[in-house]
Amino acid sequence: MRIGYMGSMVADVLREILEMMPTGIMLAEDDGSVVFANKAALEYLGIGVSNLREINVDGFIERDATRKETVIRTRGNDRLAIRLNKMPLRNGQSVVFLADISEIHQLQNEILKMDKLASVGELTSGIAHEIRNPLAGIKTTAQALNEELEVGDHRRAYVSRIITEIDRLNRLLLGFFDFARPRELSIATCDLSKIIENAVYMVRDTARENHVQIIEFLPPKKTGIKADAHMIQQVLMNVFINAIQAMELGGNMEVHLSERGDGVEIMVSDTGKGIPDHVKGRIFDPFFTTKPKGIGLGLSISYRIIKLHSGSITFASSPGSTTFTITLPRDPGKVR
Ligand SMILES: Nc1ncnc2c1ncn2[C@@H]1O[C@H](COP(=O)(O)OP(=O)(O)OP(=O)(O)O)[C@@H](O)[C@H]1O
Ligand SMILES: [Mg+2]
Repeated sequence: MRIGYMGSMVADVLREILEMMPTGIMLAEDDGSVVFANKAALEYLGIGVSNLREINVDGFIERDATRKETVIRTRGNDRLAIRLNKMPLRNGQSVVFLADISEIHQLQNEILKMDKLASVGELTSGIAHEIRNPLAGIKTTAQALNEELEVGDHRRAYVSRIITEIDRLNRLLLGFFDFARPRELSIATCDLSKIIENAVYMVRDTARENHVQIIEFLPPKKTGIKADAHMIQQVLMNVFINAIQAMELGGNMEVHLSERGDGVEIMVSDTGKGIPDHVKGRIFDPFFTTKPKGIGLGLSISYRIIKLHSGSITFASSPGSTTFTITLPRDPGKVR
């Protein structure tokens, strides 16, 4: 009698502990049906206790047997990566642990991305070097030819086409070099508002030609950060130009600068066509472009520069609007 009472008390305490644990825990029969799931497990699976009967543990474990992990559901906009671990108990039942590894996943993806960027850089720098000199020779020759032709000679159009294309190749090569050079940051204290204003100034003609209005929301006083001003300006110009190019029929681009704890946040939003879902996972990849004349380096270079500053660059997009958010620490040297 006494032992029974103690036993049920222990069971109650154990149950309470199980409910409190941040790890998802489920108890399954040998046919995979679930007889118990704690609060964390229900939350990860996005179901209530009443739906427990509808799930079968073997179903999703077998499907992911190779990786033992899976994105099981979407919570709002968050993709939740869950690692599942099934262990047999002596009585034939099994216990399944569910751990949220979304953060680890995200870090792994970022490391992969950095590796990819580094190897592309090495590969291309060699080739780019070899192309640059002959290209300069071709351009000089084409220019000489152009001068020999009479004004009004229809062949001049051919030659200027050659020159335009050479210039395009040159821009591509410059992109390669930017990529390949192991960049050393030249960090100094600078006013971020000033950098934003400079970047806006650089794109203002392109904006005007495309009927894009740029609206800046900058704090009244200086926003001092330690950063490589030149590189940050390059990032902003890339993001601004993308925004302008996305608004083929004109529109508004807003730039907001605000303070965020130990850092700052720059938001750049446009009223353009948006980024289609099937493209979203690739826009930071080197050489990924959806533009006929694009090179696809703008965002991958920007990504690398922001990472070098221990910051982040993310985006949200739907048809008709895209917002890029850049965060930067006030002092990259002080980031853990
Ligand atoms: N604001 C935006 N709105 C819609 N699509 C965008 C936006 N910004 C980026 N993209 C998409 O991301 C792709 C990659 O951008 P990225 O700047 O890296 O290359 P690009 O603009 O195509 O070429 P490059 O910048 O090298 O001239 C673009 O081709 C476009 O499809
Ligand atoms: Mg671009």
